[in-house]
Amino acid sequence: MTANAAIRAIDIRAEARALHAAATVAGHAPSIHNTQPWRWRLSSSELDLYLDHSRALDVTDPDSRLAILSCGAALHHALVSIAAAGWHTVLARMPDPAHPDHLAQLRLDHRIPVTPAAIRHRQTIGLRHTDRRPAPSTPVHTDKLRAVVAAVESTGAGLHLLRPDQVYDLAGAADQAQRAEGEDLAWQAELRYWAGGTRLLGSGVPDAVIPDRSARTTVPGRDFGHHGDLSVSGSDDNAAAFAILYGPEDGEVDWLRAGEALSAAWLTATELGLSLVPLSATIEVAVTRERMRSLLAGVGRPHLVLRFTTRDPALTAAPHTPRLPAEQVIERF
Ligand SMILES: Cc1cc2nc3c(=O)[nH]c(=O)nc-3n(C[C@H](O)[C@H](O)[C@H](O)COP(=O)(O)O)c2cc1C
Repeated sequence: MTANAAIRAIDIRAEARALHAAATVAGHAPSIHNTQPWRWRLSSSELDLYLDHSRALDVTDPDSRLAILSCGAALHHALVSIAAAGWHTVLARMPDPAHPDHLAQLRLDHRIPVTPAAIRHRQTIGLRHTDRRPAPSTPVHTDKLRAVVAAVESTGAGLHLLRPDQVYDLAGAADQAQRAEGEDLAWQAELRYWAGGTRLLGSGVPDAVIPDRSARTTVPGRDFGHHGDLSVSGSDDNAAAFAILYGPEDGEVDWLRAGEALSAAWLTATELGLSLVPLSATIEVAVTRERMRSLLAGVGRPHLVLRFTTRDPALTAAPHTPRLPAEQVIERF
């Protein structure tokens, strides 16, 4: 073997390792009800992301908008992992119009310098999680919210911070959405399938991360239909800030990009000591999704509502939810 051929062989092995690591790291991504509705196909030079319909929510999310958004978060986690390994990625979103479930294709192009920000983001992926407890009374610093807005905008999406009067509109819409969903027996059955218990199979929302009582919140959090085991102190969430994540249009590629933006926002928020909780009920129900659209006053289409609070350093972190084994979501060929 010539020296050039040997170097190329080493590079191919390094590329394959970086792609496999990216798909593995992407497993930490947040997803609606922790469904993890993604599937990765890995070859030595390409990584392909697919929507796995068998783990999408037929009743709650019939268009798969939140499933695709979740896949977008996994895609962004994969890109972070690749950047931290020192590679530039060539990314094609929705590469095959004949197969809309084929959400993205990634190829490694050339080596790039590893930045401290890339390393930090890679480390933050393992720390990020959803903490549904109400906030302490420390307000959320405007500069930190501005940094989160910048992180979202760097992905091509937008984040609209709600004014206090708009938060009341959001609260009313969230209540309306949760009532509509709660009256639907099929929706209740789907929620029971995905939430509660100890979740031995590595997906779904375990009781350990569901609050043990209803808190006095301005905007109602997800009603899981029962209380869990996560101990909640008596505080309310008066100091929380709320925002709508939005994009220019309301199609599959916009949902995928919104998921990338969610990941960017969440990693940045975590690094700045903020807690982020997605609130998707108002997006799941068409009539309240329209109410969210009117709060955006024409700047874009709503994809997700986010709650931000200042993390209380005195509180022990809420437990992390389980994940599916990597070999169940990564297929090598
Ligand atoms: C698109 C999307 C919608 C979500 N909606 C909600 C929600 O309405 N309420 C909630 O408490 N958590 C919501 N979550 C958080 C998920 O339940 C959470 O990411 C998942 O259980 C995995 O847990 P982790 O974030 O702690 O890793 C949402 C997450 C995503 C990606």
